[in-house]
Amino acid sequence: MDHDSRAAFFDGTAEHYDEDPTFHAAVADALVAPLPEGPELVLDVATGTGFAAYAALRLKPARVLAVDLSPAMLAKAEAKAPELDPSGLISWRVAPAVPMPAEDHSADVVLCASSLHFLGAEAFPDWLRVLRPGGRLAFSVVSGARFKPSGEFAPFVPRDLDFPHDEAGAAALAKDFVDVSAKTFTVDDGDRVRSVFVVHATAP
Ligand SMILES: C[S@@+](CC[C@H](N)C(=O)[O-])C[C@H]1O[C@@H](n2cnc3c(N)ncnc32)[C@H](O)[C@@H]1O
Repeated sequence: MDHDSRAAFFDGTAEHYDEDPTFHAAVADALVAPLPEGPELVLDVATGTGFAAYAALRLKPARVLAVDLSPAMLAKAEAKAPELDPSGLISWRVAPAVPMPAEDHSADVVLCASSLHFLGAEAFPDWLRVLRPGGRLAFSVVSGARFKPSGEFAPFVPRDLDFPHDEAGAAALAKDFVDVSAKTFTVDDGDRVRSVFVVHATAP
């Protein structure tokens, strides 16, 4: 799947993406909550409309780089900046998220909310590349028991990732990191109940 087709697909989802705010905000909060304050650089990988990037501002970072392939998703994200990021700490970049447009060992935190299933296994070595030793990784991942990509969605999902069926499987995705923890995270927004795994890990 080439990047233009992928961007066009997600551009088509941008208009209504923020109509599902409870789940996206809750996942972003769960990724950010355990992280220490004061990072120099936070990377939000496949930021979409920016939920995790904005949540990262609670860490009082020096700067955040938020990357997504879809110009329409990023336009939605940036439109919220005057209210949510008045100091302009977040930079928004239209680009593939793997490899991230960041120097080796430059990041203190990598966030990836609800997007790993679009990136595939190659994301992990790239996150090890961009994180400084001791830098923190936080990502969510769908459960293999529930996630069955089909229809027009299926071609956008790389096949090289073993979607986990339990917390141990989710933690195993970050096998090259240390201090890995994985928790089942459930959001009930009144209409639906959704569960993912939230994984935190540290770059060696
Ligand atoms: C389900 S949305 C998640 C967005 C956001 N992280 C959140 O939690 O709401 C998936 C996002 O991944 C982006 N995406 C998919 N494949 C990508 C790639 N290879 N590089 C960069 N972004 C990608 C899409 O454009 C879309 O914005």
